[in-house]
Amino acid sequence: MGKPLIIAIDGPAASGKGTLSRRLANLYGLKHLDTGTLYRGVAWLMLRDDLDPRDAEAAAEVARAFDPEALGTADLRTPTVGRGASLVAVHEGVRKALFDFQRSFGLTPPGAVLDGRDIGTVIFPDATVKFFITASAEERAKRRYEELRVQDQSVTFENTLAELKRRDERDQNREEAPLKPAAEAEIIDTSKLTPDEVLGRASRIIDNIRKAM
Ligand code: DC
Repeated sequence: MGKPLIIAIDGPAASGKGTLSRRLANLYGLKHLDTGTLYRGVAWLMLRDDLDPRDAEAAAEVARAFDPEALGTADLRTPTVGRGASLVAVHEGVRKALFDFQRSFGLTPPGAVLDGRDIGTVIFPDATVKFFITASAEERAKRRYEELRVQDQSVTFENTLAELKRRDERDQNREEAPLKPAAEAEIIDTSKLTPDEVLGRASRIIDNIRKAM
């Protein structure tokens, strides 16, 4: 069996990286890990137990005891949990505690697609292929707003955009593993592309890299 194929996909919230990751995993027969669910899982447990996601010690303790397989039916996709995830993600102890799980997930044959904020820069600097998926803040807020308003009629586009910008700001400016493209990442701006077009571009890049291996 050859070296596991690792596809690292980073980018800001609602950039389309999740959709691309799922489709690439299908196309290449790889496992997929949405690493945001790990930070969301830690935040969810803290909120459930009335702990403050800003508390570095408490967050690291929850992350060290965290079993990603045991989350069950927790609803991790809410805006509150997303905000909590971005808060717990600034703590070095939390990121350290989640490191090994992500590495072993990717290194188990046949390999994996991992998406998040620091996959190409910190978790898999040795990935086979790295992408940075982005889109304008307005386009991302529009996508997120359309998703959210199905469940909650009280959300507005303006609030969604403001929250998204706060999250970008926190993810990009933190000390530990800030969101930024890896030096050799292929950057795809999805603002004006359909999911099929994004998949087409990404898979052409992957196929070329594999041919040259
Ligand atoms: O992708 P998401 O919205 O599920 O991520 C939620 C938060 O988790 C995000 O704002 C920052 C954090 N995160 C991170 O710091 N590193 C990752 N690899 C994935 C997510």
